[in-house]
Amino acid sequence: MKDFLWWRDGVIYQIYPRSFADSNGDGLGDLAGIISRLDYLADLGIDAIWLSPFYPTPDKDFGYDISDYVEVDPRFGSLADFDRLVAEAHRRGLRIILDLVLNHTSDQHAWFQESRSSRDDPKRDWFIWRDRPNNWQASFGGKAWEYDPSTGQYYLHLFTREQPDVNWRNPEVRKAQLDVFRFWMERGVDGFRLDVFNAYFKHPDLPDNPPKFGVRGFDRQNHIYDIDQPEMMPFLNEMRLLLDSYPERYAVGETYFATPQKTVSYCGPDKLHAAFSFDFTFMEMVFPVFPWNPGWVIKQIIKREVTFNAAGIWPTTVMSNHDLPRAASRYGRGENDSQSFLAMALLLTLRGTPFIYYGEEIGMRDIQLRRSEILDPPGKKYWPLYKGRDGCRSPMQWNDSPLAGFSTAKPWLPVHPNYIRRNVATQQGDPDSLFNFTRKLLALRKEIPALRGGDFIPLETARGVLAFLRQLDGQSVLVALNFGRRTMKFLLPSGSWRMLLISAQGQPGVLSPYEIQILILEG
Ligand code: NOJ
Repeated sequence: MKDFLWWRDGVIYQIYPRSFADSNGDGLGDLAGIISRLDYLADLGIDAIWLSPFYPTPDKDFGYDISDYVEVDPRFGSLADFDRLVAEAHRRGLRIILDLVLNHTSDQHAWFQESRSSRDDPKRDWFIWRDRPNNWQASFGGKAWEYDPSTGQYYLHLFTREQPDVNWRNPEVRKAQLDVFRFWMERGVDGFRLDVFNAYFKHPDLPDNPPKFGVRGFDRQNHIYDIDQPEMMPFLNEMRLLLDSYPERYAVGETYFATPQKTVSYCGPDKLHAAFSFDFTFMEMVFPVFPWNPGWVIKQIIKREVTFNAAGIWPTTVMSNHDLPRAASRYGRGENDSQSFLAMALLLTLRGTPFIYYGEEIGMRDIQLRRSEILDPPGKKYWPLYKGRDGCRSPMQWNDSPLAGFSTAKPWLPVHPNYIRRNVATQQGDPDSLFNFTRKLLALRKEIPALRGGDFIPLETARGVLAFLRQLDGQSVLVALNFGRRTMKFLLPSGSWRMLLISAQGQPGVLSPYEIQILILEG
């Protein structure tokens, strides 16, 4: 493939390490487990793997509270295992992206332990300490300030109290954080996903946030002083210089409260390569309502197309991740996969880098937990209004053997009971499965440049159908999706169209219920 740039033209697959594959029978996934599944990922046809955190952690936020940025938690393996993972991935042409959680550390991180040891400690100013709290709220509930009796001051934490926010205004902190990037790039890492990066800098005077309408304390504030401060830009410039001193490195930011406008403002040749805009997954944390119909979907697409195109920024597409109910659970009914086919088709044919969440290729559903089984802190706090994020983090369903081939010991979260029928091995053997559809679509993306880099042109259709063209250098591909349970016609633009991929039995221009057709203009 000419001019194939891995992070722009490729497909990124997110692995939540503790739930992917357990090699040593302790019920927790690990790096050796991931290595044992690299052939599966290469065969599926993805290009890069984003690893959610595997660093040492007391698990107050399941890995997003890190006590050492440059180590591997022994439960997941060792630095030697990590080096082997990078080498084995690269041998198969797969890139590795790490999750850097630099807005906050764990309260067990040596930096914070030193900082809290005395008001005179040289690292005191590495975190945000004040005599009196302002009105800021933690996004997982409660106040954003915790009193530390040993030194008589409060420290700031935008998430759990065990995740103190780092003081990015301190130049020594910034240097130490850049050293973290350097450490992993020297080990061969290809890119980074930056956790809530636009919260790194807070307003220097820490003023109260103004009020707004909302359900939880956190939502009842306008977050103008705790996120999106202008100092973010010079830091991104500095970070990009460092990344560009190594070949083909990449950074994608998790924009906290992203709008497309805000998202593009952080991207560019001297800033991030990309940032998530979560067009299809936006959810109010307390009342999770997810719209899903062609009218709504096309509105989201146009919104982001307009903003990203105008700014010349390459978008990303996300349907699922470790913070959200899975797309199959949001849109699907029972075990029926028709909505998962539609979501996968959109994910892999829209303009932008697709991110597949592990298990999405087999339509994994969220597990349902009783209150006593909930592990996730916001779930514990807000149950039953909001049940937290454990549901989408259950073990990967590899086959129909006990515990789904994930582990030989009781896993850290239960396996979904549907694993007997819904698993990789079964779907690999079924030509009509979501797995095989995904695999074919991934191969098609590789083969057809317009599906990767082509312009997006929406087509007029009947209600219930979504259709668009992707066009590049004279190549024209048409994607049509029937969101409804009635057979629908759509008008093929003039010319001779050849079917590239079809999810059901229809003929060109006639979509049976929930059918997807991808056609190419010939001649
Ligand atoms: C965003 C991550 O995606 C989420 O899982 C985590 O809990 C918070 N940031 C805090 O790190």
